[in-house]
Amino acid sequence: MNDINTSEKPFKPLYKWFLIIFVFATTLIMLYLVYIYPEKRIGAMQPIPFSHRLHVTDKEIDCKYCHSYVDRSPYPGMPPVELCISCHKYIIPQHPEIQKLHRYYDEKKPIQWKRIFFQPDFVFFNHKRHIVLGVECKTCHGNIEQMDRVTQSFQTKMEFCVTCHRQNNASVECYVCHH
Ligand code: HEC
Ligand code: HEC
Ligand code: HEC
Ligand code: HEC
Ligand code: HEC
Repeated sequence: MNDINTSEKPFKPLYKWFLIIFVFATTLIMLYLVYIYPEKRIGAMQPIPFSHRLHVTDKEIDCKYCHSYVDRSPYPGMPPVELCISCHKYIIPQHPEIQKLHRYYDEKKPIQWKRIFFQPDFVFFNHKRHIVLGVECKTCHGNIEQMDRVTQSFQTKMEFCVTCHRQNNASVECYVCHH
């Protein structure tokens, strides 16, 4: 009997620690699910809730109207506030988010849009060549025209790029993408 009592004791503090760690881990997981995971799933919050679904699908504005340099330069470009204002001077100017837009315009402040798609520095990517060849935006970006918030719906790691290059007899030499 005595033997059992003494051998049980050392386990008690251990059990307590286990419980503390368990509660701590569960809390972290809950916080992740509630606060971080939806960001990933429905897309990051932007300074102004701009919707591609509304502007592209409902209002039929072409991608290149706003991302003007996508077929001409390495950088697609983001629409300047002036472009938004050219419409929103007249369209729903009293909407609270549009008034926010007007404040950016009046103060000549660019909108700091959160980036969703980016490559690491050691990767060279250029839109121009792909767009000129007729590769559609959705091949690499998914259905942006259906999104209220832009999100990356699939990974575009090296495997993704190289697979398409192989299929189209484009170069898969390392130096093409890594100068
Ligand atoms: C070619 C015209 C045009 C341009 C350019 C344009 N919009 Fe719009 N936008 C519209 C129209 C049309 C609506 C719908 C208005 C309505 O609901 O009656 C709209 C609606 C909106 C709304 C309100 C959405 C809601 O939830 O009701 C926001 C916010 C908005 N635009 C932001 C922007 C921003 C930011 C830019 C610049 C990046 C921009 N728009 C550029 C035409 C434009
Ligand atoms: C009315 C202007 C407008 C039109 C039309 C438009 N965009 Fe955009 N786009 C924006 C703005 C503003 C942002 C930044 C805010 C955001 O992410 O929603 C953006 C962001 C993006 C991003 C994310 C960029 C990043 O930094 O990661 C992609 C990709 C994109 N657009 C692709 C498209 C495609 C594809 C189309 C056509 C199907 C399109 N856009 C049409 C204004 C526009
Ligand atoms: C072959 C794949 C591919 C295609 C096709 C493609 N993109 Fe991209 N796009 C990318 C990659 C990769 C990035 C990230 C680039 C970087 O980090 O330098 C990107 C970034 C962007 C950005 C953000 C740029 C910035 O400077 O913030 C916009 C906007 C964009 N693309 C719009 C478009 C539009 C519009 C089309 C169609 C006309 C399109 N893309 C077609 C792969 C593609
Ligand atoms: C849909 C198929 C496809 C995808 C996806 C794709 N590429 Fe390409 N890429 C091509 C084709 C086709 C060429 C043209 C080769 C030529 O001109 O001979 C090319 C050319 C290039 C070039 C050389 C031309 C230039 O602009 O200097 C680079 C660099 C490149 N791609 C990088 C990438 C990277 C990085 C990715 C992934 C983020 C990617 N590509 C994804 C099909 C694709
Ligand atoms: C068509 C474009 C392309 C070609 C060709 C290519 N890479 Fe990459 N590589 C990429 C992209 C895109 C990434 C970044 C993936 C990410 O987002 O982490 C990458 C990442 C890498 C990394 C970082 C580790 C990783 O996997 O993320 C190494 C190492 C690498 N590449 C080596 C090579 C070597 C060696 C070759 C030649 C055999 C090569 N690459 C050819 C596009 C390419």
